[in-house]
Amino acid sequence: MHVLFAASECVPYSKTGGLADVVGALPRAVAQLGHQVTVYLPLYRQTLLHDPKAVIHSITIPFDDHYRFCSVLDGGKRHGVQFYFIDYPPFYDREALYGTPLGDYHDNPERFALFCRAVLEASKILGVPDVFHCHDWQTALIPVLLRTLYDEDPSLEGIATVFTIHNIGYQGIFTADTLPLLMLPWDLFTMTKLEFFGKINFLKGALTYSDFITTVSRKYAQEIQTVEYGFGLEGVLRSRTPNVAGILNGVDYEEWNPATDRHIAANYSTQSLAGKQECRADLLRSFSLDANSGSPVIGIVSRFAAQKGFDLIALAADRLAHEDVIVCVLGAGDKAFEDLFRRLVRQYPGRFAVKVGYDNELAHKIEAGADIFLMPSRYEPCGLNQIYSLKYGTVPVVRATGGLDDTIEPYDLRTGKGTGFKFQEYTPEALLNSVQAALALFAKPKEWRKLMLNGMGKDFSWTVAAKEYLKIYEKVKAARHAIPV
Ligand code: ADP
Ligand code: GLC
Repeated sequence: MHVLFAASECVPYSKTGGLADVVGALPRAVAQLGHQVTVYLPLYRQTLLHDPKAVIHSITIPFDDHYRFCSVLDGGKRHGVQFYFIDYPPFYDREALYGTPLGDYHDNPERFALFCRAVLEASKILGVPDVFHCHDWQTALIPVLLRTLYDEDPSLEGIATVFTIHNIGYQGIFTADTLPLLMLPWDLFTMTKLEFFGKINFLKGALTYSDFITTVSRKYAQEIQTVEYGFGLEGVLRSRTPNVAGILNGVDYEEWNPATDRHIAANYSTQSLAGKQECRADLLRSFSLDANSGSPVIGIVSRFAAQKGFDLIALAADRLAHEDVIVCVLGAGDKAFEDLFRRLVRQYPGRFAVKVGYDNELAHKIEAGADIFLMPSRYEPCGLNQIYSLKYGTVPVVRATGGLDDTIEPYDLRTGKGTGFKFQEYTPEALLNSVQAALALFAKPKEWRKLMLNGMGKDFSWTVAAKEYLKIYEKVKAARHAIPV
């Protein structure tokens, strides 16, 4: 089986969120099961390659008024996975991946349409797969193109497509005149194809044209088929229910493991938790706080986006500040939330501390040094930080939605089972109740240690998920081959 992954970010080459972690780890897990895996990514300014070689010097991508010419670089093999990079500096050699805090780049439809076409064209030269596995709206045009403009291309015949939704809140919605700009046919502009309230919607196209749709947890697969969570695409998804599945993301324990983590002050494991205290002091120092403070430390590492529940934190902040806690926040994104945390730090110095920016090392330090990890998301397709927290003995307090609900089991005082705290209602009261329950248990060191060890003992490695994806690849491949040409 040859699987070709196309995505807009991937650790260690480019990252804004969990998508990069997944694309950095799942292909390797599939390769380890004995399959051929190729990953295509855009070559961004932040992508650092060692001695890359151009394997295709020029691919012509037609736009309405002119042609654009990109090249393909060979990123070599990493853990058995072949990487190729689409190089087109006018589109990808920029400050950020998708936009600035002021908004998205206005030419994102062209940027990612070029990427999709380039992947199809490059695959014809560098190796056609059995399955294209595409991720999020940036790669959504691949299944659309394959079944429309490329329908007659003999070299792409019989290729199956799997599409993974990492976040249905981002759909790639653009004005209708984008269609002719991208040289896509007007007959895609119908309600059963890409049309969406008078605009075009890339993600809708992928949900229509892919052979199989997955998302990143079982619960989220159900949620996105409802009005509350579907962002307008619940109907499209419901029409495809037999071909929709939720597969929980795994964790790359080579990156996220307190026993081997190179970013943290001291290593530790279930055998010896001593190092965690050192990590805690180191974290407090990183935020210029009193390293000897005994107050429980709540950590947050997050994109600053409405999805993550910061409006609840804003509403709960005053009451939270009256508890004996320290809240250490690392995040970047929406300016409104940067301002919120800066205000809280001014108002409650010593209770709240914030670092605005993207900082992988500090993210690791927070996972290791905090006592509690807070994720009160409004919705959460999977969420990786709470799963990392489990391994680091940092007890998650989460809202019971999507992957947060699937990965965290509420702690039961009576049986001593469970791994964290979760609340249902999207209210500041519910959040506070959960945090207070966690703080009450934190005051009982023996119980708390038990809870930490429960989480640290959980295994969310990728092999299980990779096997589930393989079953789907086999199924769609077989179905495609059964279709008479
Ligand atoms: P999402 O993909 O919605 O952002 P996830 O929990 O799946 O949420 O994954 C987030 C990933 O991005 C984690 O690996 C987390 O450590 C990382 N991350 C998020 N914000 C930052 C930041 N400001 N600095 C460093 N890493 C971050
Ligand atoms: C998205 C989601 C997050 C998920 C990640 C990886 O960014 O918001 O919940 O963990 O993708 O699938």
